Amino acid sequence: MIDKQSPIPIYHQLEEQIKSKIEKGEYKPGDALPSEREYAEQLNISRMTVRQAITNLVNERYLHRIKGKGTFITEKKFEQNLNGLTSFTEDMKARGMTPSNKLISFEIVPAKKNLANHLNIAEHSPVYEVKRVRLAEDIPMALERTYISANLIKGLTDNIVQSSLYQYIENDLGLKIGRASQLFEATIANDEELEYLNIPENSPVLLMKRITQLDDGTPFEVVKSSYRADRYQFMLDLER
Ligand code: GLP
Repeated sequence: MIDKQSPIPIYHQLEEQIKSKIEKGEYKPGDALPSEREYAEQLNISRMTVRQAITNLVNERYLHRIKGKGTFITEKKFEQNLNGLTSFTEDMKARGMTPSNKLISFEIVPAKKNLANHLNIAEHSPVYEVKRVRLAEDIPMALERTYISANLIKGLTDNIVQSSLYQYIENDLGLKIGRASQLFEATIANDEELEYLNIPENSPVLLMKRITQLDDGTPFEVVKSSYRADRYQFMLDLER
């Protein structure tokens, strides 16, 4: 309902109305929004006013416009809390979602100099090179390239990495994961990311590079994860 007598501007009332429909699930992610004309006629307000409300919601990313197609409800992003050292499997389960993996490759390769330095092993020592697409409810979320010290994390198989690496390290090998340092970078998806994440050309991705250590300080993995920027946002609690 629009109250024309209210001191609250009409475009603002309409914005709130659309937001509330999104929150209640009456408008679903991916749905097309009714046209400016429909709103204008139905609410008996000007198209300019409708346009103003829609533009504000596009700027706030509740809605997005697709050229030649119309205006759509934006998918809600997954919020990943960065305050703990968790695995993809744990993150998804904590949200009540079903994680799965698509294994692209699983190999043992000799560590190149840079990687060997990060893992604190001699150059050419064996490392597992694992490429996986990480999915939630069968939707690709991230492409992950993991390098794991093979002399430290023994007995890894392609079967294991199709479920959870961290679970294997802690539950089967009885090792304790201690800490990690993580770097973030915004990039445009490369060809591999486009293909495996099923996203259109020039899409942004969030690249995370993590080096993880066991609780005794030994680094065991170097990981590059490319997260879909349209699906993910990251949250950090900051204290002063
Ligand atoms: C996250 C981290 C990776 C880690 C992975 C383990 O995706 N970014 O560094 O290797 O979790 O996940 P899982 O135990 O589900 O294989």
